[in-house]
Amino acid sequence: MTRRGAAPVSWGTDAPRSGSALVVDHLTKRFGERVAYQDVSFEVGYGEVFGFLGPNGAGKTTMVRTLGTLLAPTSGSATVAGIALSAEAGPQIRARISIMPESPGLYLRLTVAENLECFAGLYELGDVGERVAAVLEAVNLTDRANDLCRTLSKGLRQRVALARALLNDPTVLFLDEPTSGLDPVATRDVHDLITALRDRGVTIFLTTHRLEEAERLCHRVAILNTSLLLIGRPDELRERLFTRAVQVRTRAPLADPRAVFEGLDHVEGWEQSASGTYELHVSDPDAAAPEVARALVAAGADVLSLVESRHSLEDVYLELVDEDVEVRRR
Ligand SMILES: Nc1ncnc2c1ncn2[C@@H]1O[C@H](COP(=O)(O)OP(=O)(O)OP(=O)(O)O)[C@@H](O)[C@H]1O
Ligand SMILES: [Mg+2]
Repeated sequence: MTRRGAAPVSWGTDAPRSGSALVVDHLTKRFGERVAYQDVSFEVGYGEVFGFLGPNGAGKTTMVRTLGTLLAPTSGSATVAGIALSAEAGPQIRARISIMPESPGLYLRLTVAENLECFAGLYELGDVGERVAAVLEAVNLTDRANDLCRTLSKGLRQRVALARALLNDPTVLFLDEPTSGLDPVATRDVHDLITALRDRGVTIFLTTHRLEEAERLCHRVAILNTSLLLIGRPDELRERLFTRAVQVRTRAPLADPRAVFEGLDHVEGWEQSASGTYELHVSDPDAAAPEVARALVAAGADVLSLVESRHSLEDVYLELVDEDVEVRRR
């Protein structure tokens, strides 16, 4: 592992900006007969927060371990922080990245500061005192520096693990389910820390089961189920998979909904989903909504609400993963 000089700790700001932080090209990993992931290709830009979603056993952790140089791929190639992945390049790549694994893996009999000093020593980093102080501050743990890790809650241990991952000032940070098992408050704290790192331009590869987490934090997401099913911005994925819709609720069911909705320029189809509730398929909700409102008022309807139906990333995910399971069953 290369020793870093006395440069101040400034996550991400000295990251090289040309090219991609990660380039994954037809990568496959098999354990004997078992395929962990297959023929996966994607790129992640510098400064991007990239979500890697998939059900249990989809191959997420194996991908993190491969790109983190802990496992060799079976076939395909990758570039990590500008360096081609190979056994020889391992030390060079590891100097530029960090992995926060699912379980924190701390020495419970040591204090928070002792843990961080110990890992800084293992990573052969310079300026240990300065680095430890900076990462403690970054995760708001300065006042717990002298507490034994054994006495910390799960959420606090997760924060120490995040501090450890920041010690080497990584250009690319891999977070493997960073909020798994945390309560809503601890989860929000970790989200805030990730947002702060994102704002500093750190490239983050985040695996998660929490779809609202991916939606909130990630610029783009990939959905994996051994092979890559889909990749894009969350809003793009929603648009790609679902037609757009406007939902109308009226106080009383319309006497003749067909006469109201059919013939409108921006309404492509409609169905009644409950008494007095109608789903309209539209090409452009902004154009359709005023037109629908006028038609309803002209028909004498009392309109309770008229809103665009929004699909969440969860809808996208469930649609894709269910579809994939169906395909595999055939
Ligand atoms: N060291 C190993 N030896 C054999 N099989 C392995 C090994 N590591 C992972 N696998 C298998 O590879 C597949 C992918 O596992 P992986 O841990 O990458 O999934 P994951 O997407 O991280 O799942 P989870 O959401 O449960 O963490 C699984 O079938 C798993 O059993
Ligand atoms: Mg995993």
